[in-house]
Amino acid sequence: MTHLDDRTLTSSGFYVSAEAPIHSDNPVPTPQSPPPDILRCAYMELVVEDLARSRNFYVDVLGLYVTSEDAESVYLRSTEEFIHHNLVLRRGPVAAVAAFSYRVRTPEDLDKAVAFYTELGCEVRREPGGFTQGIGDSVRVVDPLGFPYEFFHATEHVERLSWRYDLHTPGELVRLDHFNQVTPDVPRAVKFMQDLGFRVTEDIQDDAGTVYAAWMRRKPTVHDTAMTGGDGPRMHHMAWSTHEKHNILAICDKLGALRISDCIERGPGRHGVSNAFYLYLRDPDGHRVEIYTQDYYTGDPDNPVVTWDVHDNQRRDWWGNPVVPSWYTEASLVLDLDGNPQPVVARTDDSEMEVTVGADGFSYTRKEDAEDGALQGFKLGETL
Ligand SMILES: [Fe+2]
Repeated sequence: MTHLDDRTLTSSGFYVSAEAPIHSDNPVPTPQSPPPDILRCAYMELVVEDLARSRNFYVDVLGLYVTSEDAESVYLRSTEEFIHHNLVLRRGPVAAVAAFSYRVRTPEDLDKAVAFYTELGCEVRREPGGFTQGIGDSVRVVDPLGFPYEFFHATEHVERLSWRYDLHTPGELVRLDHFNQVTPDVPRAVKFMQDLGFRVTEDIQDDAGTVYAAWMRRKPTVHDTAMTGGDGPRMHHMAWSTHEKHNILAICDKLGALRISDCIERGPGRHGVSNAFYLYLRDPDGHRVEIYTQDYYTGDPDNPVVTWDVHDNQRRDWWGNPVVPSWYTEASLVLDLDGNPQPVVARTDDSEMEVTVGADGFSYTRKEDAEDGALQGFKLGETL
């Protein structure tokens, strides 16, 4: 639901509001217990079907650093990271996400996490020795939206490799930037994440108030996670930062030279939302990986919330390039705390793909281009 009266149209073509113009008619109750103080998205535990194949993709192709590994798991980190890992690849029978892991400010925040989720009736487990190597006391939960989360503070510190230019590649991945989750009811997810202490930075809506996606942050960037409307709970992507745009182009060149360009799903391009430069890849199991750079600072408490019209063809790509249908429809399963895939619930609100992709499967729909109800293509030439 949109509070349309409270937003201001900018000269850039999107709207701004003082607070998130999103209201849930079906909210998760707000716990009395205060939420843990979350610092940032810290790592993802990813189940992969062929560990050697995935190691090749993330280490040999994308250049992540191996902190440690054994027969069942590989622990990887980005160049600037000083905690043990940003990604765990774990061998398993079904490709899926085992945990979206957040670092909290103090050890006491784990007690808050336990109280917060217990009050909501969620399944909560605490492991003083950590659920993964290099991580200490941790809490894992399945949240009311069906996603598996982890919270931790204690971690083994490792060397930050920023100064090791002898190791760097032209497409260096320097930080884990964000997660992106698929959920049927975006306003319900936003309200729950706000109760957990997140603040909305951007969203996509239509004039009727249907919310198609929302971006939310703890650290002072555009997001630590985004909620994308669709059948869920599923994982849409995880995103790694490079320093600059040219690093992303270097990754594209390398993928071409290795003759594995098929793993490029979308991009490179410039997002409207977040203003970041992007590239979407699919790993050997189909898990989506975004390479991302140069969004903007959002740390002030009155940082304006940006709202894009779902019919603005520059919202997802600032140059107006179309979004491929697989990007809207395909995503990774997520697991419960016992390792079983969570059931996927269908979205009942309007689908962003269906309201924006034309009959040719690619064209976008700019509202003023519609004549007699027929939707027109927006780009010169055909995109097929
Ligand atoms: Fe992203």
